[in-house]
Amino acid sequence: MCGIIGYVGTRPCRDILFRGLRKLEYRGYDSAGISIIDGGRFKLLHSVGNLDNLEARLSELDGEGTVGIAHTRWATHGRPSNENAHPHTDCSGRFAIVLNGIVENYLSLRSQLQQEGHEFTSETDAEVVAHLIERAYRGSLRDAVAEAFRQMEGHFTYCAVAVEEPEVIVAVRKETPLVVGLGEGENYVASAIPAFLSETRRVIFPEDAEVVVVTRDSVEITSLAGDTVSRSPQIVDWDEEAAEKAGYETFMLKEIHEQPVALADTLAERVGPDGRVILEGLGLSFEALRSLRQVNIVACGTSYHAGLVGKYALERWARLPVEVEVASEFRYRDPVIGPGSLCLAISQSGETADTLAAMRLAREAGAHVVAVTNIVGSQATREAHGVLFTRAGLEIGVAATKTFLAQVMAMLLLALYVGQERGHLATEDVRGFTEELRRIPGLLRDYLEEGAAGRVEQVARRHTNSRFFLCLGRNISLPVALEGALKLKEISYIPTDAYAAGEMKHGPIALLEEGSPVLVVATDSCVYDKLISNVQEVKARGASVIAVASEGNVGLTDMAEEIFYVPRTHEMLSPLLSVVPLQLFAYYVAKHKGEKVDQPRNLAKTVTVE
Ligand code: M6R
Repeated sequence: MCGIIGYVGTRPCRDILFRGLRKLEYRGYDSAGISIIDGGRFKLLHSVGNLDNLEARLSELDGEGTVGIAHTRWATHGRPSNENAHPHTDCSGRFAIVLNGIVENYLSLRSQLQQEGHEFTSETDAEVVAHLIERAYRGSLRDAVAEAFRQMEGHFTYCAVAVEEPEVIVAVRKETPLVVGLGEGENYVASAIPAFLSETRRVIFPEDAEVVVVTRDSVEITSLAGDTVSRSPQIVDWDEEAAEKAGYETFMLKEIHEQPVALADTLAERVGPDGRVILEGLGLSFEALRSLRQVNIVACGTSYHAGLVGKYALERWARLPVEVEVASEFRYRDPVIGPGSLCLAISQSGETADTLAAMRLAREAGAHVVAVTNIVGSQATREAHGVLFTRAGLEIGVAATKTFLAQVMAMLLLALYVGQERGHLATEDVRGFTEELRRIPGLLRDYLEEGAAGRVEQVARRHTNSRFFLCLGRNISLPVALEGALKLKEISYIPTDAYAAGEMKHGPIALLEEGSPVLVVATDSCVYDKLISNVQEVKARGASVIAVASEGNVGLTDMAEEIFYVPRTHEMLSPLLSVVPLQLFAYYVAKHKGEKVDQPRNLAKTVTVE
């Protein structure tokens, strides 16, 4: 949460910083600000709301300053306001900082500093950093940043600049992202690579508690104690166009249409010529796989729903007991986990605070931890024994779509792999599934190209005034219903519940009245007949049913007001197709309600706070 960028070079940096912020806006958009060193002082600009507001006032920040820092905020401590917008400065106005994360002991630090006479102008936790640096400064910004770091608890990344050292940015991280971009005669620091991807692809990922001193010609990394640390640059091969809308009206719509590619890329090179699954990088030997006793999946939000799909697949194909839990609950339980447990931590960003904490707990207990993530170099990849990358490319829309499908693909591959290696699945069974998996990207591409979005939009348009939705599914379609409901909540703000269809009669059916819209995931499955009984039950209470069904199913036509047909596939693979009309439905309901689909209120793409 929150995006930060710093630039030091020879070019006037106002617009460079602003363009960087644009690429980080998905991380938060409650307020924004820029601070540039110019003529021996800071020029500061703050604004409330998203970056359009900052852009409208950008000309107020004139000058030729070539060193600066900038921030786009997701509010934690203090409402969105000009006072609470970053960058924050100290009492003397000589230091400015931007911070992403949370300073957990900020109240005690703040009261200490106030007793010493420091005056605060915001309600944020971040402002203490500027005052800590002011207090510690003895002629070296690097040392003052390190000293402030020693006194701070929590998880954060911050960048600092000082008017007395006008050619330097100092940055440091603890459990939240920081990446350095290496240019020619200029360098960058940022929360994420897209911030400077148009300028350079050479990056360095500093580790926790390493102090990074960046000038236009150098990047020096030292430990807190001052020992030199050597970190080799890496080249990122990300496609810059991926960070643009490429003709789509929103990132979310573009990303929905990129799902066939995300699936194909996540599958690529993971199926051998004999049809068996090849997964490298898990850090699990054949013996370790064979002696597994249980799987614990931890994740949040959409990633949790992908984990639920993983549970159905792992139980069916690998015959292992699987628990799936939201990371924020898992981390504060006393879970029964240890050697013989495989902990799968699913996180698109690889930075979600609760998921990282759950991983640490599992690791300390002796479990083998595998991160399933989309981001190379993310914190989850550093803390896990092994990594299974999804290859969805950059996702900007706050509501996850293509990363979900890639996670589901990763879960299915992993379940097939564990089943095959543990001898529960015969080679011909694995081959049957992998052949079908290979067909899915093409099926989905055809589905999208043949006008699926337009058909869903027509139905969605009629539901912009609905007051409530209910989503139902059974078995492996239950996570699909949950994900469809989450999409509706996130972007349309229409209250939506999701339930196991068989559980309806134990309470939620009381919500239904004449015309209540109920979305049912009714693709072919072993529980299809049971589900149809549940559909009859909701129909009998007056519900208006919108079904997702397998192509060619005519049995639902008398029961459902609307049917979104998706291509037929094996039921275990069906989430890869059946979730797509639900994503589109949520998208078009939100769009026709006039909501900002890519920037839903109160949310941020990466949740680095607990
Ligand atoms: O980066 P992560 O996968 O760990 O993020 C987890 C959730 O915050 C995320 O899936 C969230 O629920 C999305 N906004 C869903 O659209």
